[in-house]
Amino acid sequence: MTATTAPATTPRDAARAPGPKGVPLLGSLGSWRRNTAEFLLGLQRDYGETVRMRLGPMTVHQVTGPDAVQQVLVKNNGNYVRGPLYEQFSVVMGKGLLTSDGDYWRSHRRAVQPAFQKNTILDIVPNIVTATNEMLDEWEAKAARDEPVDLMTEMLRLTLITLSRSLFAYDIKPSSKVLKHIVDDVVEVMFRRGTPSEMLPSWLPTDRKHKIARIHRVFDKIVADVRENYGRTGEGSLISLMEQAEDPVTGEPWTDQELRDELLTIYLAGHETTAVSLCWTLLSIANHPPVQEELDAEIAQVLGGGLPDRQNTDALTYTRMVVDESLRMHPPIWIFPRAAVEADSLGGYDIEAGSSILLSPLVSHHNPLHWDNPLAFDPNRFTEQAVKERPRMAYFPFGAGPRQCIGNTMALLELRTIVTMINQRFKLSMIPGHSLQYGSPVISLRPLQDVMVRLTAREGRGAGSRTAPAPAPTVTATVGHDTAEAAQKCPVTGGSGG
Ligand code: HEM
Repeated sequence: MTATTAPATTPRDAARAPGPKGVPLLGSLGSWRRNTAEFLLGLQRDYGETVRMRLGPMTVHQVTGPDAVQQVLVKNNGNYVRGPLYEQFSVVMGKGLLTSDGDYWRSHRRAVQPAFQKNTILDIVPNIVTATNEMLDEWEAKAARDEPVDLMTEMLRLTLITLSRSLFAYDIKPSSKVLKHIVDDVVEVMFRRGTPSEMLPSWLPTDRKHKIARIHRVFDKIVADVRENYGRTGEGSLISLMEQAEDPVTGEPWTDQELRDELLTIYLAGHETTAVSLCWTLLSIANHPPVQEELDAEIAQVLGGGLPDRQNTDALTYTRMVVDESLRMHPPIWIFPRAAVEADSLGGYDIEAGSSILLSPLVSHHNPLHWDNPLAFDPNRFTEQAVKERPRMAYFPFGAGPRQCIGNTMALLELRTIVTMINQRFKLSMIPGHSLQYGSPVISLRPLQDVMVRLTAREGRGAGSRTAPAPAPTVTATVGHDTAEAAQKCPVTGGSGG
């Protein structure tokens, strides 16, 4: 499928960006719903870097050129607020960092920022290492029984446990199974819109309302437990900042509601994204034997069989490049919106006041003007030299400007550490017959199917072992973006996803 219909531009509105005409009333909503990723990639291919479309009643511009992205997120960021497309997050998250704007957002961001500074974040390395080792010890038993693991579920659990211990000094492990289902519900209630049940009168009980109530019940209990734990121990870098935060005007402490919404935002924004990225990164490594070999060589050279710590993770240069490339190909937050407060000009086209802007790391990261052969997985795009030569905003997996992801340093640290440790102890390969697709308008670029992988333990490479690594074994690649199979399956390569 392509997004193509004849460009809508006419001489009367020459400064209006080109784009699909769509159909009366709905505009391009049908194409959007069928497969959002494929539709948006098609828009860039067919109309260029600034595209105008209608989605139901809304006028939306997809903006993917580096200068225009810079204008929205950095240079003229004051003109671009969260807007109506962000409202669906509030159903669950309330008014937290992700959903708020203006002075409220500014004072909250300032209050919690210190917990995310690089020096503080480096303190969490032992938490990451411990949680990962706990998981890998369980994997040993599974590998011995030749039992496959569901990679997405494992990564969700690991990142949830790590985040909770690291920022809140709270062990959420016992609740992690329940939470997996709750997070699935979160995704569903925030993104399944337009179902018949939503047309029913608001006082009628619906499945969606039921789910929202359950999500709130579960999270309210977690918030209460985290706060109770802090009351007893006084530990947890982020919870302590939240408990001490004050309203800058009244000097009053944050209300229970404010604290709850921020805590929930961090739990939700902070673990699913990192888990999704881990999943894609590990699969990309498994499917690219030369990458696996180079990674093995670097890990052996830098760590010599030991564990990552706060000093040595920065020296894992190639591992960093692999993670960066994975975030290029599969940016977990692959679209995010803004609304223009006043009229502006982006990419040479008029943007009306009140219209919506759609930024897509996924589409920008596959822009052939800035990425040669964008469908190929190639970590060498991220050598220092290559990065310098590219426009800065050709790549923005964490957003940019004042609203840049607050957890980006933490996420990168987790990604590099966990990828390293898994690679030290196991070789992963996908179970033949399992395929990967994405493309629904869900919260993140999650694979839509379970990702079942087979584990092969690497001999003499237990955690902390000083043994030199074995040579990289051959990997059976069954799925990858630049494999023939993936070319049929993945929306990025034009297959049928979603
Ligand atoms: C690979 C992992 C991650 C990715 C790709 C990611 C991506 C993003 C992106 C693109 C935004 C900007 C959205 C916008 O401008 O509209 C964002 C914001 C945010 N992220 Fe992340 N994120 C990740 C991990 C984390 C982690 C680990 C945390 C916290 C522990 C976190 C917390 C947040 C918060 C609170 C915001 C809103 C910040 C603000 O507006 O002040 N994220 N993230």
